[in-house]
Amino acid sequence: MDLGVNIDHIATLRNARGGIEPCILDAAFVAQDAGAKQITAHLREDRRHMKDEDVFLLKEKLNIPLNLEMAATEEMEKIALKLVPASCCIVPEKRLEITTEGGLDVVKFQDKIKKLTESLHEKNIKVSLFIDADMKQIEASKRCYADYIELHTGFFSNAYLKNDFEFELEKLKNAAKYAQSLGIKVNAGHGLNYENVKYMHEIEGLIELNIGHSIISRAIFTGLHKAVKDMIDLI
Ligand code: PXP
Repeated sequence: MDLGVNIDHIATLRNARGGIEPCILDAAFVAQDAGAKQITAHLREDRRHMKDEDVFLLKEKLNIPLNLEMAATEEMEKIALKLVPASCCIVPEKRLEITTEGGLDVVKFQDKIKKLTESLHEKNIKVSLFIDADMKQIEASKRCYADYIELHTGFFSNAYLKNDFEFELEKLKNAAKYAQSLGIKVNAGHGLNYENVKYMHEIEGLIELNIGHSIISRAIFTGLHKAVKDMIDLI
C-alpha cells in the first residue's frame, strides 16, 4: 500500500498571512524525499488553500505523480486538461464545508461524471471517484469508466473516535471487494491518522491511502520528513 500526501494545509498556513511561506513546493519535495508515492492537491472553487499557480508548479517540478482533487465543474475540467496531472480525484464540493464532507453522488450525476471521465481519459489522465462505501455508487462509477474509486474513510474515522468502528470497517471491506470484482482499483482516504491507519490493512487490495491533515499536524512537532516517514512505516 502506498502513501499519497495531501499538502493542502501547507497552503492553508501560507494563505493565513498571504505571503510565500511555508513554500508548497518545498513541502512537496520533503514528502517526496521521505517516500511519498504521490502528492495530492485539492484546487477548490474558492481557492481557499491551493492556487492555480501552485498546482502548475507542482506538476512541473515533482518527480512523483500529482493527483489533482477537483469538483466536477467546467472550470476545473479546463484546468485539468491544461495541467495534465497523472490523475484527477473527483470530489463533491460545497462552499461552506470545512472539508470534503461526503462522497460524490455518482448515481445522481452520472452523465456529467461520465463525460468528464471521458474527457480526462483523452489526455491519459487517470480518474478516481471519491465515494462512500455504497454498492450503487460503485456500480455507477463502473458505468462512468472510473479507473479508481477512493473510498471515503471519514465515517470509519469518526466511528473510530467512538470506539465503535467495526460496522464502518466492514462496509469499506465489502465495498473494496465489490469494486475490485468489477475491475476498479481501490484507494482510500479522509480522516486517517497514525492510530486508525492500521485497520486499512484489513481492507484487501487497497492501492493507496491519501492522507493530509494528520500528517501536516504531526509535522508541527516532528518536522514533515519524519511525519511522512512515520506514516509510511505504519502503512
Ligand atoms: N481524500 C480526499 C478525496 C479528500 O478530499 C481529502 C481531504 O482533502 C483527503 C483524502 C485527505 O483527508 P485528510 O486531510 O483528512 O487526511
